[in-house]
Amino acid sequence: MTRKIVVTSALPYANGPIHIGHLVEYLQTDIWVRFQKLCGNTCYYFCADDTHGTPVMIRARSEEIEPEQLIARMQQEHLRDFTGFKIAFDNYYSTHSEENRRFSEMIYQKAVEKGAIHTADVEQAFCEHCKMWLPDRYIKGTCPRCKSEDQYGDSCDCCGAHYRPTELVDPYCSVCKSPPIRKNSKHYFFRLADFEPQLKEMVHHGYVQESVRNKLEEWFQAGLRDWDISRDGPYFGFKIPGEQDKYFYVWLDAPIGYMASCQNYCQQHGLDFDQVWDNDEYELYHFIGKDIMYFHALFWPALLLCAGIKTANKLFVHGFLTVNGQKMSKTKGTFITAETYLRYLNPEYLRYYYACKLSAGVDDIDLNFDDFLQRVNSDLVGKFANLASRSGPMLTKKLQGRLGSLDQEGRELINKLQAEKEAVISDFEGLNYASAIRRIVALADEANRYVDQKQPWTTIKDDPETTRTTLTAVINAVRILTIYLKPVVPVFAEKIEVFLNIKPLTVPDVDTVLEEVEIGTFKRLVERVEKEKVQAMVEESKENAAARQSKVELDEPLALECTYDDFMKVDLRIARVSKAEPVEGADKLLALELDLGALKKNVFAGIAKAYKPEELVGKMVVCVANLQPRKMRFGVSEGMILAAGPGNTEIFMLSVDPGAEPGQRVR
Ligand code: 2FM
Ligand code: ZN
Repeated sequence: MTRKIVVTSALPYANGPIHIGHLVEYLQTDIWVRFQKLCGNTCYYFCADDTHGTPVMIRARSEEIEPEQLIARMQQEHLRDFTGFKIAFDNYYSTHSEENRRFSEMIYQKAVEKGAIHTADVEQAFCEHCKMWLPDRYIKGTCPRCKSEDQYGDSCDCCGAHYRPTELVDPYCSVCKSPPIRKNSKHYFFRLADFEPQLKEMVHHGYVQESVRNKLEEWFQAGLRDWDISRDGPYFGFKIPGEQDKYFYVWLDAPIGYMASCQNYCQQHGLDFDQVWDNDEYELYHFIGKDIMYFHALFWPALLLCAGIKTANKLFVHGFLTVNGQKMSKTKGTFITAETYLRYLNPEYLRYYYACKLSAGVDDIDLNFDDFLQRVNSDLVGKFANLASRSGPMLTKKLQGRLGSLDQEGRELINKLQAEKEAVISDFEGLNYASAIRRIVALADEANRYVDQKQPWTTIKDDPETTRTTLTAVINAVRILTIYLKPVVPVFAEKIEVFLNIKPLTVPDVDTVLEEVEIGTFKRLVERVEKEKVQAMVEESKENAAARQSKVELDEPLALECTYDDFMKVDLRIARVSKAEPVEGADKLLALELDLGALKKNVFAGIAKAYKPEELVGKMVVCVANLQPRKMRFGVSEGMILAAGPGNTEIFMLSVDPGAEPGQRVR
């Protein structure tokens, strides 16, 4: 019996480009959707740009365009990149749409009617210079615990402390650097806890994977708090009905965007939206990353329960992407946008590689470039494409391109390939792509061994008909492997279909064989991936990051003016590091003792990720020697050393002539 299924991926924000981290999810989903379609199921894949919120508003301001212009451009770019990676949405829409406005208002009204909304005063930061409310991430200041400067409003990068933005010392607006004021305003709240029993019920009945369930249990234990669903203007979003200058928080209308995209599709295709979205006839699945579980496992279903709309059958939660074992990094060139990738490499390499790594869990997956080269070249090119190129050209050139029929041995080979069908189906269905690929590779090995053993290149010399029989088995193996691989590498599969001169393959075709027919001409299927191309892609990503960085600096207004006299007050001296030790409880700090000749100073420096204590001892540094001592959680810091960089492992101290004298003034 065929199934009817609706699938969504998380809606990407309209304030930045699609990168290879995002692609884990879109490729995971696309493979699943393609697989469902190939099985003969009806499966719709809906997505959209997530367009509202402060970051979009700020970016539009900095580009001096309207938010509507920005989101229109972003949507085009996103769609261009997704299409480049062969991600085949049935509809790609926008949360800034009439459908979404209507659904958001309707769901909100239902919540009001059910008594699930209340208002309360909230004190929040407001920048009078930018004339906007500042979300926590847009306030910076000095950490209340370790006193490190330039920390975000919610947590400190130096000592790891979590706090409220009100606790920051000397807070400032991260856009214009002026200090914000605190103001009260009325906010709207959704009573999440009212839905706790139903949410628990869902979670206990398979709404999420096992590994995710534990996390949700923790949240239930901690207690569900009311959710602030409003933001004051100026804000790019939908106005709350009956209010003048209040908007729905972006996270309220974002998931509703799934429905809007579906409705927009239904309207264009003459389908009944309620039947597709809000009816058990269709299964519904959301693919998401583990960072947005709270929204999809609690807020979103609670809103739907409140509005009396069907909730999803299940969330498919995946982990993050690391590159060469580390977080994607702009300076290392591993923050690779979809656009840059496509300039250098075939999208099917990444589709294949991610499939090799993906399983049903929430563990992070690693893109290791050496492994990437190896898998693409040895499997995709060396095993799958090779099998076709060992059989196709010989058939067309020497045997009039005509298949014969299978003999006993050929039949046995094909039986083995067919026998794996249910296992491969179950792997794809259960998101165990890595396991599916392992099976398919093992079958390709089997088929290649068959060729080695049959040696068609020898038999062709004086036994064309035996060779035809051999190649018929090989071509049938190619055909079945292609079906198995088709959700992962659709372009590769299409080339094989053209080569075999057959209709688009589907999963049920595994059970049939191709005999006594004429095939088409063989064309090259896929090139080997070159290391140099990967390197060039990384280099370009480094340059892109550097270019963006300098643009940000120019776009950002400067901090308050510093006079010449102010600057001349800074007394810079050469110092020798006489001691360097880690600081317990602050993994970014080092406790340094600086020898300035006539005096010694103790300084806490946020350079522990970049320098080891032992390599610092004896080093000459430049230090701000007349800085007012500051009491920190770990002791008093009596100065600062000069170092700069993007942070973490990339902080660089000013290099000093090793022959310089401690205490000497630097001008
Ligand atoms: O985390 C994100 O990138 C969000 N833009 C995802 C939204 S998913 C859905 F709720 F719209
Ligand atoms: Zn500001």
